[in-house]
Amino acid sequence: MKKILLIDDDRTVCQSLKLLLGKAGYEVHCIFNPLNALETVAAFGPDLVLLDMNFTVDTSGKQGLEMLQKLMGRFPKLPVILITGWGTMELAITGMKAGARDFIAKPWDNDNILSSVKTILQLETTEVAPTSKTPALDAIIGNSDEIQRIKAMIAQVGPTDATVLITGESGTGKELVAEAIHDCSQRNEENFVKVNLGGISSTLFESELFGHKKGAFTGAFSDREGRFQLANRGTIFLDEIGDLEMPSQVKLLRVLQEKTFESLGSSKAQKVNVRVISATHKPLEENVAQGSFREDLFYRINLINIHLPPLHQRPSDIPLLVKHFMDLLQESYGQKDIFIGKEAMDWLSKQHYPGNIRQLKNVVERAWLLEQSKELTIKSFQPHLAGPSTRSTSGIPKVGAMTLEEMEKAMITKAMNFHNGNISQVARSLGITRSALYRRLEKFGMS
Ligand SMILES: Nc1ncnc2c1ncn2[C@@H]1O[C@H](COP(=O)(O)OP(=O)(O)OP(=O)(O)O)[C@@H](O)[C@H]1O
Ligand SMILES: [Mg+2]
Repeated sequence: MKKILLIDDDRTVCQSLKLLLGKAGYEVHCIFNPLNALETVAAFGPDLVLLDMNFTVDTSGKQGLEMLQKLMGRFPKLPVILITGWGTMELAITGMKAGARDFIAKPWDNDNILSSVKTILQLETTEVAPTSKTPALDAIIGNSDEIQRIKAMIAQVGPTDATVLITGESGTGKELVAEAIHDCSQRNEENFVKVNLGGISSTLFESELFGHKKGAFTGAFSDREGRFQLANRGTIFLDEIGDLEMPSQVKLLRVLQEKTFESLGSSKAQKVNVRVISATHKPLEENVAQGSFREDLFYRINLINIHLPPLHQRPSDIPLLVKHFMDLLQESYGQKDIFIGKEAMDWLSKQHYPGNIRQLKNVVERAWLLEQSKELTIKSFQPHLAGPSTRSTSGIPKVGAMTLEEMEKAMITKAMNFHNGNISQVARSLGITRSALYRRLEKFGMS
């Protein structure tokens, strides 16, 4: 039986929480005086602590925060959930920074407390061997340490209700990972609803997410269900969450916090039970620091962070991905029986893909579709990688970061890799003669 320690100087709160958690099958112990907390934790050995931040003696929450810091100092691995008032969101955030796992705003909802407690305890205990086979994970191709670590994480957090924030550059597989988390969860028979928040203005936000009643605004000719209703009992995937405008951030926070919302034109609050997964290619932490993304919302969606590394950090996955994409093509276009030679595979593994896996997939697809012979060679891929995007100036380093000579050397190296050391092609692509290229290779000690 899992043990929970409740720290709250309000006896009625303690009693009612003790009853609630006791019924849910936890062994609960209450203490009213935070001064005894450390000894009690040492003696009782709880799996989780629920700590009220607002002690009546000092409503600023200073005492609660000090308590938390002491707890974290002595028991750094002990999961602590904070209970705070709505008005003291700042306190919750300071607490999260000090190491608390989650926070619950008062007045709370019993289901919210139970689900937070359950989620945090599950995250502590579920240990999944990375080798265990889960069909939902098979769609994610790759054998690098990075991908294995990500798969293990999905297997571990999937079955819980934890909110997950997936970050990573464009085309690294964020959506694929979101789907895999849903497939690994107990919600996998229910809907997985994707919302692209980047495309939703703050005027449309409420109607889109919470729905509206007929006549709620000009043009609302009939009732419409929002995405949260559609996702009820399932998972909602909030894509491009970093693009959400400020007014919408407040509205989203409220529904995530209270698990209730109202449709436009209706005063009746509706309850929802959704698991929230978000994704963004933006550096959300920086946006928080700059003030363009709410910090409280950031912590709300980010119980677990899964970061997908760019493809160039795991080049060993490239051959597997290429084979996978070729198999998919074979499946959808029928027999063509094309193979790829080792030389071409090595070459593909050495290229740079700013568009990550999506770009690699496009390159393979185009080469496959246009290939006339039985073998894909370097020549089959080259035209699709040397697109106009390589001419953009955005890739040029900052002034002062590189000398002209270093730049020249880097460009030659890149061209040599791209053309697999074919001198004529390298010279042509750089706009110099073969002998001019030889001179430079010698000068840079590259010959
Ligand atoms: N590990 C992988 N194995 C197989 N296919 C992958 C993998 N990662 C990504 N893909 C494929 O690459 C394409 C891009 O992936 P996805 O749409 O998930 O990227 P994303 O991170 O959401 O990009 P964006 O930020 O641009 O929305 C998809 O077709 C996806 O199926
Ligand atoms: Mg995406």
